[in-house]
Amino acid sequence: MEIWQSLTSTTSSLQKIRCSGQSIGFVPTMGALHSGHLSLVERCRRECDVVVMSIFVNPLQFHVESDLERYPRPFEQDSVKARAAGVDYLFAPSGEEMYPDGPPATAVHVAGITEVMEGVQRPGHFAGMATVVTKLLNIIGSCTAYFGEKDWQQLAVVRRMVRDLSFPVVVVGCPIVREHDGLALSSRNRYLDKDHRVAALGLYRALERGRATVLEGERNADYVREVMMSVMADEPLVEPSYAEVVGPDLVRPSEITGQVRLLVAAQVGSVRLIDNLGVVV
Ligand code: PAJ
Repeated sequence: MEIWQSLTSTTSSLQKIRCSGQSIGFVPTMGALHSGHLSLVERCRRECDVVVMSIFVNPLQFHVESDLERYPRPFEQDSVKARAAGVDYLFAPSGEEMYPDGPPATAVHVAGITEVMEGVQRPGHFAGMATVVTKLLNIIGSCTAYFGEKDWQQLAVVRRMVRDLSFPVVVVGCPIVREHDGLALSSRNRYLDKDHRVAALGLYRALERGRATVLEGERNADYVREVMMSVMADEPLVEPSYAEVVGPDLVRPSEITGQVRLLVAAQVGSVRLIDNLGVVV
């Protein structure tokens, strides 16, 4: 596995790879790699000739400074995991390399779908994410890019942006990887102590209860939202943030039909967690 730190070496190496006719798969991450990230690599490995992963903790998408500061950066362990999972090239630029002029004056704003759920709770987060993903996709160029369904709203924002602006990129969404008991893997789980780790399961329980309620015949989306909120609220260490039922493009149906996604978010101690689950009726 080769490590690229500069933008110029990355673009020139990728140019050669593209000229040789090999297909390029791209897995953008912020590091602190776990099996969720590695599942994207596995899928990419199966579908593309060359696997490029990026590790960049993007300051633009953190709206709380302390969250950015404490974000884990175990680079040595990450590069060992990336190599073992089959990454060919690891793009790991510094902040200065990505933003030599300081914070960029240009931002990518995806209207509508960034103004609900996480967009309300984390102002500026999606513009920061969309801006860095745009920059990363411009550096990597034409490719198939792999994103996790764990960040359902992020995936919807990226898909919309790629469609709207005709990026030469195919976006692939990959299923959520969970712990044996159902907790969705997240780089932030490491901050949960024993009691909060147990409490965190309240999110998955809420989703399961929501799904069961729908499968039992309930079609009122508001009612299903209330059920999920109350399951989370039953956990004393969980402070529910929202529960949502959405259809395609994150539209909130009043009546549940077809394929919907249940989404929840909560504060568990000092950690903010999100999770989601699909239901087909
Ligand atoms: P990060 O949180 O590191 O996640 C990188 C990718 O891994 C995302 O596509 C995310 O959805 C996926 N992922 C995380 N946990 C997962 C799980 N349990 N199962 C499946 N996939 C999972 O998301 C970001 O970084 C950033 O916003 C980024 C897109 C890199 C832009 O900075």
